[in-house]
Amino acid sequence: MIIAPSVLSANFGNLEESIKNVSSTKWLHVDIMDGHFVPNISIGPVVVKGLRSVTNQVLDTHLMISDPLKYASEFVKAGSDRITFHYEAVTDHLKVIEGIKKLNVPVGISIKPNTDVESIKEYLPLIDQVLVMSVEPGFGGQAFIPSAVDKIQELSKLKSLLNTEFMIVVDGGINAETGKLCRDAGVDVLVAGSYVFNHENPKSRIDSLRWL
Ligand code: DX5
Ligand code: ZN
Repeated sequence: MIIAPSVLSANFGNLEESIKNVSSTKWLHVDIMDGHFVPNISIGPVVVKGLRSVTNQVLDTHLMISDPLKYASEFVKAGSDRITFHYEAVTDHLKVIEGIKKLNVPVGISIKPNTDVESIKEYLPLIDQVLVMSVEPGFGGQAFIPSAVDKIQELSKLKSLLNTEFMIVVDGGINAETGKLCRDAGVDVLVAGSYVFNHENPKSRIDSLRWL
């Protein structure tokens, strides 16, 4: 299982130093919010470029923005390695999937807590990852919504049924307890923000997830 610390909860006053604490993980999760698709604004390509210059970790970029296709190339140019957009943000999903694929990066679809797996079933053979939101997107530090576990199970079954290779990622309210539930359900990637960074020893928090 991959652990992806969410940069949103890092110390932006000293970002380089803050992410050094989590340099042992393969991935970093980068939340992009536009104040339109979600009621919060986070960072843009400039900060992604800065992150790129100080780490070789995979920058898994979660676009919580209304027009992902318009901005995806800017993020890839800045250094994003993987791009996930929201199912709820767009109408022409195939166009967005193809557009991101053209940028030569893996593409993911994310679903909010009220969106069911059925809605994205037809896209599963075309994408590289599904990001199951286990909180309403927009803010770190919220409580885990348990129905995410059922969605992970459902996606896990669909993976073998459809014989496709997408990764299952869960994001929101992850700690050692909820992380274990997701692992047992078949998740591939655990995104964790406040659990990792809002602690004096982020390394120990990562280890607690690694040993699940
Ligand atoms: C929320 C973001 C998450 C957030 C998770 O919209 O997508 O990545 O940083 O934070 P925690 O782990 O604190 O719920
Ligand atoms: Zn996220």
